[in-house]
Amino acid sequence: NVFINQSPILAPYFKNIDISVDTILLICFSLIVASIILLLYALKTILYIRPKPNEPPIIPYWIPLIGSAITMGIDPVKFYRENQKKHGNYFTYILLGRRMVTCLGSEGNNFVFNAKLADASAEDAYRSLTVPVFGEGVVYDVENSVLMEQKKFVKSGLSIKNLRAYVPMIQMETDNYLTRWNKKSGIEDVHNAMAELIIMTASRCLLGEEVRSKLDETFAQIFHDLDGGFKPINFLFDNLPIPSNKLRDEAHIKMRKFFMSIMQARREAGITDRTDVMEYLTTQCHYKNGRKLTDVESSHIMIAILMAGQHTSSTTTAWALLFLSEKPELFEKLRQEQIKVLGSLDVPLNYDALKQLTLHENVVREALRLRPPIIQIMRRVKKDLPIPQTNYVIPKDSFIQCVPTISARSEENFENAEEFNPNRWEVFDQQNKERDDDLIDYGFGQLHMASAKSPYLPFGAGRHRCIGEQFAYVQIKTIIATLVRKFDLELLNGKLPMCDFTTMIVQPKDSSLRYKRTNY
Ligand code: HEM
Repeated sequence: NVFINQSPILAPYFKNIDISVDTILLICFSLIVASIILLLYALKTILYIRPKPNEPPIIPYWIPLIGSAITMGIDPVKFYRENQKKHGNYFTYILLGRRMVTCLGSEGNNFVFNAKLADASAEDAYRSLTVPVFGEGVVYDVENSVLMEQKKFVKSGLSIKNLRAYVPMIQMETDNYLTRWNKKSGIEDVHNAMAELIIMTASRCLLGEEVRSKLDETFAQIFHDLDGGFKPINFLFDNLPIPSNKLRDEAHIKMRKFFMSIMQARREAGITDRTDVMEYLTTQCHYKNGRKLTDVESSHIMIAILMAGQHTSSTTTAWALLFLSEKPELFEKLRQEQIKVLGSLDVPLNYDALKQLTLHENVVREALRLRPPIIQIMRRVKKDLPIPQTNYVIPKDSFIQCVPTISARSEENFENAEEFNPNRWEVFDQQNKERDDDLIDYGFGQLHMASAKSPYLPFGAGRHRCIGEQFAYVQIKTIIATLVRKFDLELLNGKLPMCDFTTMIVQPKDSSLRYKRTNY
């Protein structure tokens, strides 16, 4: 009242009005509430994404921009399954301001994996995450046709002759590593162990013995810092100025220099008899136009294959061992299979024997069915894109993604889908024996056109399909076969660990297991 009475502007208006402090407070409060509502409304129209005609339904969300990031991030499998029940195979959720159009079921897998180059791009989806780690001039930093040639180089480098040479190397590395499990019985974190072992075997086989020999010193730290660049946040934003990205950039330069120095040293020493991919890239590879790969490109391709294979193979091996520990009777069956094929557990493993170890193979297949390391496959849509056999049209610039783990863990496709049952693959193989569909070659070998329709696609399909599958099987089977010769494994509390979905690759949350030395 004092303020009003003394104000030359307000005083004449309030001269005859007896206004209490309470009323003024009430008016102020109402004004503040009204402004907040107006502001939220304005923010909603600016920040919330407005549905476009015919686009797949948008999952409702509370916080603008953030969208469904939190519910999806906590448990993506639950999120996709629940929304599939409500909306069917196609729906959109908002992830930090981006439209993520989810395409489920076998048709959804096929739609994403076989999307035409003119319609959708993996490069546009993955570039911000991968180019700073892999480096320029390779993978998602080049035209798709160049990527296809680079995939052919790596695939040819992983020839049967080379894979044959890798089996004894991997067995030796595994034997050496397992000398650390030196008690009769003890507890070990199997995921950490497999991460260490896989980088030893992968670097030895793919990158060469010079890299392997530096693993305990400089190389491990460089790898660690470079790997730190693989954060989900870097998928969403380009070059954020965060400390891990600074370390990533420094590590990238160090790793490239390191690889290039080995290439130079090999050239000077006239070394040409190695079975690693470095040798193949630097001595055998020419683009179709006749140009040789430069050492920088070869180094960047080597970084890419190291990164592509490390977490995928190590988590798969860890999950396979965890599932085996849930069904401990399988350890003895695996040993018996080796005795049947090789005659004894003392006979060294070899490539041909490995091919005949079908139970070992099916253990890995089943682990990949239940816990594929990559669960979402992304592309960015280049133009408004209709979804076949529906009325939906995906707006330009949306991301499309398929989630093959949903079809691989659905009862519709696999009986008792949540059960770890390696034997199911014998029946599956019988039923899927005859395949007479068309073949297609994107530039790195023939693929079955219809394969993208399979409910089980841990290695993807189409032009971006994995070229490391054979190597991954050789590596993982050799490790498992070597380990079961010496040990039985047990879950500590009888239960499998939960999944950690916060990392790029789905990892077990706690993977401590009890090992027990066998009597063999
Ligand atoms: C692509 C899974 C091991 C190299 C892929 C894709 C998947 C996958 C799902 C398709 C990605 C997409 O379509 O966007 C796996 C799994 C592995 C594994 C589950 C192990 C268990 C490896 C290894 C290497 C490798 C060991 C290298 C030696 C590649 C490459 C691509 C690829 C070069 C092609 C990327 C593209 O064309 O866009 N992998 N991978 N992978 N993988 Fe693997």
